[in-house]
Amino acid sequence: MTQTQIRLRRLRENPVLRSMLRDTLLSKDDLVQPLFVKEGLSSPTAIDSMPGQFRHSLKSIVAQAQKVQDLGIPAILLFGIPAKKDKLGKSAFANHGIIQRAVSAIKKKNPNLLVITDVCLCEYLTHGHCGHVQAGKILNDTSVATLAKIALSHARSGADVIAPSDMMDGRIAAIRKILDANHFESTPILSYAVKYASAFYSPFREAAESAPGFGDRQSYQMNPANRREALREAQTDLAEGADILMVKPALSYLDILRDVRERFHCPLAAYSVSGEYSMIKAAAARGWIDEKKIVLETHLSMKRAGANFILTYWAQDLARWLKS
Ligand code: PBG
Repeated sequence: MTQTQIRLRRLRENPVLRSMLRDTLLSKDDLVQPLFVKEGLSSPTAIDSMPGQFRHSLKSIVAQAQKVQDLGIPAILLFGIPAKKDKLGKSAFANHGIIQRAVSAIKKKNPNLLVITDVCLCEYLTHGHCGHVQAGKILNDTSVATLAKIALSHARSGADVIAPSDMMDGRIAAIRKILDANHFESTPILSYAVKYASAFYSPFREAAESAPGFGDRQSYQMNPANRREALREAQTDLAEGADILMVKPALSYLDILRDVRERFHCPLAAYSVSGEYSMIKAAAARGWIDEKKIVLETHLSMKRAGANFILTYWAQDLARWLKS
């Protein structure tokens, strides 16, 4: 009796069939482009550690948002850098703060582009931490009160989605409450729910001028060693009213993305962070790797792990590559 040999290669030979049978699809519809806008700039300035990324002026951010939309990318994530930092982070919730002005200018010109705003204090405080500081400690509840004010001012300026990235406890509930009390009950919250204390953020801190002036972020961001804690963070934020959860960084945390995907039936985002970008850019610049192929593969892996969409500095490149 002859035994039939299992031939998995049978389905890999014909390129049409191979493509039909793929499980995971990466599309420009899954992408969000993060953008930086800096108060007081007259023209965009390059970010050294993130080749191809810029700190935009109020004028150039509107043009850049237009380019993103013209490429068919549905959304941007906005980060603001104020002209002056202070001890209270006042410019983070000022009516004429840089984010508030940028959002209204962008929405006026591109009403259909989804504008997500990052809500945090690190860019606005002199010491660069994501919350208020007293006697060397990062305060939770007073920080949450300020974060809620920031979120409300973003919603008032026209932000479509509010994305708190600070990792203080209870901020989702506080933000939901202040939005609901001010007729923004339909404004969704994208929570940086599972955010690790990662060395992969360092190029971003150059870009956003937000490196902590003392210590590090380990007392509020998660320990990279922890897996179950990610599920607690996810559960807590959903219970507090988060609409979409995010896992950050992406590449070294695909197992966590998968865990959250399997446990919770909510939309899920992955943030491919600055260090992932710089690392691949640097190797590609030396000709050691093929940037396009590597980036298509890493982003596909984020979708395969369970992300519904990806916040990525390659959004515009990917949109071009995926078209051809
Ligand atoms: C602000 C914030 C950070 C990032 C997104 N929002 C930096 C940090 O937590 O230090 C990182 C994004 C990136 O590295 O691309 N809290």
